[in-house]
Amino acid sequence: MSPYSDLGEVEPNSAGFSDIDKSKDTQYFVDFVDRVRLEKGVKEGKELSFSLLRLRPGDAVLDVGCGAGDDVLSLAKIVGESGRAIGIDNSEAMVSEARRRAAQSTAANAQFLLGSIYHIDFPDQTFNGVMADRVFQHLEDPHKAFTEVVRVAKKGNGRIVVHDPDWDSLVIDSEFKEVTRKITKARSDWLKNGKAGSRVYGMFKEAGLANVTISGWSPIFTDYNYSFQHLQLEKASRDAAEEGLISVEERAKWVADLRKKGEQGRFFAAFTAFIAAGTRP
Ligand SMILES: C[S@@+](CC[C@H](N)C(=O)[O-])C[C@H]1O[C@@H](n2cnc3c(N)ncnc32)[C@H](O)[C@@H]1O
Repeated sequence: MSPYSDLGEVEPNSAGFSDIDKSKDTQYFVDFVDRVRLEKGVKEGKELSFSLLRLRPGDAVLDVGCGAGDDVLSLAKIVGESGRAIGIDNSEAMVSEARRRAAQSTAANAQFLLGSIYHIDFPDQTFNGVMADRVFQHLEDPHKAFTEVVRVAKKGNGRIVVHDPDWDSLVIDSEFKEVTRKITKARSDWLKNGKAGSRVYGMFKEAGLANVTISGWSPIFTDYNYSFQHLQLEKASRDAAEEGLISVEERAKWVADLRKKGEQGRFFAAFTAFIAAGTRP
């Protein structure tokens, strides 16, 4: 038995959300976004993102990296039958799930396309609003992607909203402070752009957007089993051990401590995510 498989969590593909279709188990990712969507803070974050888009009936709105499509279906209701809500994702598995959900909904004005954020297949200035929810953390070249996002927003009043965590902000109450730091570093570094959240404000300002605002919020986790899954601490601690940042024994002690805290009902972890919004001048 591998010394790392004690938590029973599966991480089916090292490319993760950057290239879901490489995975043998694409349903894992659909289930993951569905689970996250149920969290209270995520719901509130999405409501804030929608309001920051300042959409009106008849508008055209784009959700890049739309995942299983639920946000597009909500946006379709906001822009109404005279508007258009488009979702783009680079995963066929996600786009087909989004289309399946759309077919079961009443939203005739929602459309899903397979495509990359790096080459958005729409002319300049097509959309009144463009959003990306927890996508930039998975991008190798966020600057190139953001240039594309800005390009398809309308000049003068096109709104852009980006929501992402900064994984360096992950805190966990553990008896092993240094081991925790090494594991959270591994957790942040395995993502292509784990610091996305703290970079979005600068990215909006550098692009010359107007009326730039930034909000932050901290999802808090007190359920040990859920947190290990959601925060992918199995993979993070395994990576830290495999990279030699911590020993296998240190990892085992770290996990045992958190498991005990879970049993005692005093497990605690949290991170910070940010929502930037701005207008294309
Ligand atoms: C964490 S999920 C979030 C999905 C959705 N926005 C939500 O809030 O549920 C990130 C999504 O970004 C997509 N993605 C990753 N890299 C992408 C790229 N280069 N172009 C388009 N979509 C991408 C993934 O396939 C995945 O569906």
